[in-house]
Amino acid sequence: MSNFVRVTLEGPLATLTFAREKGLNILSSEVLTELDEAWGQIEAGGARACVLHGDGKVFLAGADIKEMAQLDPAGAVAFAQLGQRVFARIENSSTVSIAALHGAALGGGCELALACDIRVAADPLKIGQPEVNLGLIPGFGGTQRLPRIVGEGRALQMILTGEALSAQEALAAGLVTKVAPPEQLVDAAKQIARTVAAKGPQAVAFAKHFVRQALGMSRERGLAAEAVGFGETFKSGEAREGMAAFLEKRAAKF
Ligand code: CAA
Repeated sequence: MSNFVRVTLEGPLATLTFAREKGLNILSSEVLTELDEAWGQIEAGGARACVLHGDGKVFLAGADIKEMAQLDPAGAVAFAQLGQRVFARIENSSTVSIAALHGAALGGGCELALACDIRVAADPLKIGQPEVNLGLIPGFGGTQRLPRIVGEGRALQMILTGEALSAQEALAAGLVTKVAPPEQLVDAAKQIARTVAAKGPQAVAFAKHFVRQALGMSRERGLAAEAVGFGETFKSGEAREGMAAFLEKRAAKF
């Protein structure tokens, strides 16, 4: 049974809600394990896109500082590896993830958002990597994903100062791609999820895969892999349907 993470499945759309009954949403090892199980449920349910958001004041205020304060170095490595494994699962999933951020997305909360495919936000928001305030470094992927998203210079400024950005500042930095009024935040994220879910699911999964690996390989290898992937899409009934629908001037049925 989940205590901190709720999942709703509606056809091709899933919603994952961090909903801690008392206190702010935070990432303890228990919550990370629930998140892992919830993601398994979402994939097994065949969801094409999932909105992740937080009930209450914040998306996620970061890793559980109370839990971390008890860890020895080996325990800290294991804690970081747990978070990294769960976030990598979401990053590599063929279910598209859309983070809807409000209140706070700090530390591990920012890192979960970085692992998602699309980020939308509403002010008031504090998003950033404040680990240096605690004498720590980001442990759930922040040093690796943040520079790939906002560039090394801005990532260094955020990580070395620990200063958080507002939603508008995050938009200007390219850290989020849309800012919505707070009362429309989850709907705005769901609208993106519905748009993605209406496309050819194999094409979406392939496109995500090639974009995700783009920065980790040379341009030549990436282009060669893309051409092979492009050919692969022609093997599916999906591509035949998409192109036939265009030529017959009707909506495609995926
Ligand atoms: N872990 C554990 N408890 C936390 C927490 C966290 N990450 N963040 C907040 N809390 C607790 C506070 O200790 C406080 O508890 P009590 O009610 O028992 O005193 C309660 O939540 C409410 O917090 P505030 O009074 O501070 O609430 P606020 O609304 O004034 O501020 C906030 C909200 C901006 C999120 C602020 O709480 C804050 O800055 N939290 C810490 C954020 C942080 O440093 N996150 C990074 C953690 S390190 C990390 O994530 C490492 C990693 O990469 C793996």
